[in-house]
Amino acid sequence: MSIATIFRYLKPEVSPREDPEVFVKSVRSFIRDHVRSEDKVEIMVSGGVDSAVTATLFHLEIGDRLYVSHIDTGFMRLIRGREESEMIAEKFSDFKNFNLINARNLFYEKVMAIPDAEQKRRGFRTAYEIITDQQMVESNCNVMTQGTILPDIIETDGGIKSQHNVHLRFSKVKKVLEPLAGLCKDEVRRVAEFLWSRYKMKVLENVSRRQPFPGPGLSVRTVSTITPEKLKIEKMANDTVEQMIDEYTEERFGTNLYIDEKTGEQMPFQSFAATFDDEFIKRTDEIASLLKERTRKGIRYKILNTKVTGVRDGKRVYSHPLCIESDAKLGYDILDRLGIEIPAETSLSRVLYKVGSKVGPLGYVVAIRSVNSIDAINATVNEIPIKTIGRIADEIVKRYGVKEVYWDISPKPPATIEYE
Ligand code: XMP
Repeated sequence: MSIATIFRYLKPEVSPREDPEVFVKSVRSFIRDHVRSEDKVEIMVSGGVDSAVTATLFHLEIGDRLYVSHIDTGFMRLIRGREESEMIAEKFSDFKNFNLINARNLFYEKVMAIPDAEQKRRGFRTAYEIITDQQMVESNCNVMTQGTILPDIIETDGGIKSQHNVHLRFSKVKKVLEPLAGLCKDEVRRVAEFLWSRYKMKVLENVSRRQPFPGPGLSVRTVSTITPEKLKIEKMANDTVEQMIDEYTEERFGTNLYIDEKTGEQMPFQSFAATFDDEFIKRTDEIASLLKERTRKGIRYKILNTKVTGVRDGKRVYSHPLCIESDAKLGYDILDRLGIEIPAETSLSRVLYKVGSKVGPLGYVVAIRSVNSIDAINATVNEIPIKTIGRIADEIVKRYGVKEVYWDISPKPPATIEYE
């Protein structure tokens, strides 16, 4: 097996923000320059906007010489109670060469029962490499394309993110094409909207309004060791959070994804749940006095016994999340400050605020996260009223019996959007 050479369309002359049609013409010419008439091209689609747009652009240019596959890793979401992989297969029904690969057993074997975040990602990556390579041998493809976008490249090269699909090794593929490599998320959405309005392909319907979802899926949100029970809780809690925050956003903005036209900021950029084991470590007095000094309120706190990702000095770091609880209701004036000041003055990069009011029988803690962002490089907390978050927490405790629910009040940096 060898590593393929990556060709990236990094510097489009015209951004899709100015003119999506001109961008589409230029990217099609990039594809023509790199794909010969005898080449067959494979794309692994995730269900997100980046890979859907990439698949459509190739389909327009090379038709049935494009082979599309989606891997059901077992870590995909439930969306309103339905398996996302099934929905993706329906969306790609216009593509002649579409293949849904059930690889749950291999992914579970490589990822379950591993506590370390980086090792889990490596396990996921190994399974992804094996399945992708097998698929390309089967479909006899010699070129691969991916929907990688600019923030993915910046963060992977900068050591902030370790992507599951970079520098993969293949038996047959010598060339990887990344036609969206020069774009940010809002630009990809514009291309999606333009292509949808022009070609009406099912795969693009509403895709521009979908939130990003990490390649390793819920494996990075089922924090630390994954068990079947913990994964099941995570799937259901994540579905509840997505649905209830969608409903709140619809009510507030008349759409489930509000985009500020001037800045490109998306509200929310992402909303989800993460599930932790209910294990805590010893408190430190340094934090007690800091909380007292900053809030002038009686704040109880504990520290989760697992490390999660953050960003410090442009690098990925791991630290324990601080969980705080108060009898007095805290507003965003205080929560925002704590989310910034605690990481600045301690070694902890996250602050979680307790919003779950009941105590369930299962030994899990769920964190609700919802952030606004332009490009995922920076993100701010989506300031949903705490009362609404409390209602979501109550649903999670009531339906799934977890012990406690927290609201993540940490911006990126110093936190990351995901936890692993
Ligand atoms: P972080 O957690 O690093 O995430 O702030 C930034 C954005 O990237 C998504 N993400 C990933 N996407 N493969 C992906 O395709 C990955 O391994 C991965 N990890 C994080 C994350 O959901 C957010 O939008």
